[in-house]
Amino acid sequence: MKCVKTVVIAGVIICAGALPSWAHIEKTEPMQSLRQSYFALIGMTFGPMADMVKGKIDWDQATFERWSSDLAAVATYKVERGFAPGSEEGRTRAKPDIWLDLDEFKEHLGELRAETARLAQVAKSGDRAAIQAQLGVTGKTCKGCHDEYKAKDYLY
Ligand code: HEC
Repeated sequence: MKCVKTVVIAGVIICAGALPSWAHIEKTEPMQSLRQSYFALIGMTFGPMADMVKGKIDWDQATFERWSSDLAAVATYKVERGFAPGSEEGRTRAKPDIWLDLDEFKEHLGELRAETARLAQVAKSGDRAAIQAQLGVTGKTCKGCHDEYKAKDYLY
């Protein structure tokens, strides 16, 4: 690891500005990093919401509402630019079919945005049965797109 700037705090040397190999922003593949960061945020918000609905973690209405509005907000981010021409390969699980049928792929993104927005609305009602149902509908938008467009492992 190359140190661009070195900072010493309490005797610990910290490299500021250097990106180690596990960095979330890969400078040579910025679009791949962008879209994976988007989906990582989506996954790390949706995951605990599902855990709460399933009872794996205690129900907390205020937290669930917060997560659902975060999820809806993140979903609106225009991740389409992360699928720009030229970003098909590299360290990615995005299947080549995406670029053969971008319109259909974008329809799936539209569904994700619509259902996460609906989930944020339903969350505010506090109606646990309705929340569970809408979480299921939202989960189907993930699966619907992944089945078609996301590989299990890195492709290249
Ligand atoms: C429009 C299609 C689409 C929808 C809808 C979608 N995903 Fe994905 N997701 C992808 C693609 C494509 C990738 C692979 C991106 C890559 O590797 O470049 C991905 C990757 C991921 C990843 C891995 C991110 C990483 O760290 O690399 C997670 C986690 C994830 N999705 C969760 C979700 C969840 C949860 C939902 C629903 C709330 C969802 N996705 C909805 C297409 C979609």
